[in-house]
Formats: sequence, structure tokens, C-alpha cells
Amino acid sequence: MALKDTIQSLLTQVQSMSAANAEELEALRIKYLSKKGEITALFNEFRLVPADQKRELGQLLNQLRQEAEARINDLKEQISNQQSAISNVRQDLTRTPDPIALGTRHPLSLVREEIVDIFSRIGFTVAEGPEVEDDKHVYGMLNFAPEHPARDMQDTFFVEKEMGVQKPTDILLRSHTSSVQTRVMTSQKPPIRVLCPGRVYRNEAISARAHCFFHQVEGLYVDKNVSFADLREALLYFSKEMFGADTKIRLRPSYFPFTEPSAEMDISCNICGGKGCSFCKGTGWVEILGCGMVDPNVLESCGIDSKVYSGYAFGMGVERITNLKYRVKDLRLFSENDVRFLRQFESC
Ligand code: DAH
Repeated sequence: MALKDTIQSLLTQVQSMSAANAEELEALRIKYLSKKGEITALFNEFRLVPADQKRELGQLLNQLRQEAEARINDLKEQISNQQSAISNVRQDLTRTPDPIALGTRHPLSLVREEIVDIFSRIGFTVAEGPEVEDDKHVYGMLNFAPEHPARDMQDTFFVEKEMGVQKPTDILLRSHTSSVQTRVMTSQKPPIRVLCPGRVYRNEAISARAHCFFHQVEGLYVDKNVSFADLREALLYFSKEMFGADTKIRLRPSYFPFTEPSAEMDISCNICGGKGCSFCKGTGWVEILGCGMVDPNVLESCGIDSKVYSGYAFGMGVERITNLKYRVKDLRLFSENDVRFLRQFESC
């Protein structure tokens, strides 16, 4: 190839040179510009060029060498900029570390903890009992008559005793946390002041308003001279702490086999402030719990002398309180583990 063509072809090569790192760049420098490089070799060849071509080829050769040097310098700068960008990033101590995905507490846990916390300030401690229970602790000792319709009303799940053989047994999934009352009263002596949070089961079709499992918190206070006024004061204190100082309560007579007298408690609707809205069905009140004075039969069935001791008890649904606090309309959201729902409680 004539010298001029060689120069031209090297010129195009040089103009499109690229290098990903310092090693590749050094290899290019050696290939073209070192003592044994291709451009240097052309300068040796140039000496033999006839005098009338020297001017033109000399200019071309110089242009080639300058372009090669300039291109290599450019590439050098690019590579060192890239490297310092990388090391700057590594050394930036103000950058936040890789974001750590924080878990959130479940809204039902938040509310259960708040209930426990409020009652612990007036001396209640936590007691727990089994979810798989027997008829005696869930109904019998709580003064439910053997054929009492409440047993049906509760729609209890019974557990089959022998695998595969379906026959009625007295082993069941507790349908209320009142069963923990009987466990505590048979194992502890008064004064007793306990709160029993836990999961309960009922044979209900699952919908936005009902579920086959949900959560309750039971309260029990047994001592000498415990009165209905003590119950009312404790519940008023709880309601104000939970829903705000303006909250009012009202007790309506009711019936439970294990309390006498029994009542249901409403709080002034915290959504409309008592004026009446769709949540409280225009009444200004919402029911949040059942309560009453522990029936003497229950005390006696647990071995506590009802002539010496009296007590109060109450039971509330954690989902209900959570609905009121956070306006969760569909009960199913609590057990679906949808992170879009759960993440809303991140900052609580
Ligand atoms: N066990 C009742 C229920 O599941 C709630 C309840 C009502 C508990 C009155 C009590 C009480 O301790 O005194 O509906």
C-alpha cells in the first residue's frame, strides 16, 4: 500500500479509537505511538519518500500523530473522570445507605397494645389462656346452662377428638376470651386484676362485617367490695384515654349468663362527635363492649367465696375498636396481609 493510503487508513482508525479502561488505552498507545508503534514506523518510512512528495506526506503524517496523541489524551481524561466519579460515590459519607425496608406493626396489634397499656396504668396485668379449650371453661363454669341457647348463638367450632371420625366432643375453639376468666380465677386468689387479649373463633360466613376469627380483650377485677360504680369509672377512664377526653359513655341493661347485672356500653360516636352520622346510624352512640358484675355462680364455680368477694368483668372486640380509630370498613383487610393496607400503619 502506498504510504499515503496507509496514513489515511490509520487516520480513520485513530479517529474512532475507544478504550474502556487504562489498560486498553495503554495498549492503543503502544500500538500506534511507542518506539515500535505503527505511526513511528511510518516516520521511518517517510525518510525514503522522494523529495517532491515530502511536503504533502509530511503534513499528513504530522496530522496523524497529532490526532492520535489528542485522541489518546481525551480518552485518558474520560477514563480518569469516570474513576473519580466512582470513588467519589464510594466516599460520600452523607449518602443514605441502601434503603432498609422497615416492617410495620399490624393495626390490630397496635390497638391491642394501646388497650393493654391504658389498663396497665390502673393496675391490670395480662393473662392468657388456650385457644383450643373445653366446654367447661368456655361455657360451663361461666354459668351457661347445659341447653343454654347461647351455646348455639355463639356458633362454636368443635374439634374432632379422633382424627377422621366426626363426633361431637367438648373440645372446641374458644368463642370468647371470657374463658380466660375461669382459668385465672381457678389458679389465682383475689385480688385479681387481669386483662386477657386473644383470638376467638366463631362459625360465621366471612364477609366485610363478620369473620370466623377475630380478637377480643377481656377484663376482670375481683376483690372485696368491688362495685358497679368501680366498673363504670374504669370504663369511662378507658374510653377517654382511647378516644379522647370529650368522649361520653352510656350503659344499657343487657344479659350475659356470667354477669349480673349485665350491660352493654356505648361511647359517643367519635366520627360525628355525637351529632348522628351513618356510622352511628344517626343515634350519636356506638356500642363497644359488654360488661357487668361477675355472677356469684361464676365466682363459686371457680372456688372463690362470693360472700366475701365481688368483681366486675368486661369484654370488647379489638376489630371494632380499630374500626372506630382507623375507619377500616372491611374486616377481611385485617387478615389478608395486603402490604398496601399494612404500610398505612408504618408511622404509628
Ligand atoms: N364474652 C362476651 C362476648 O363474647 C363479651 C363480654 C360481655 C365479656 C360481658 C364480659 C362481660 O366479660 O362481662 O360477646
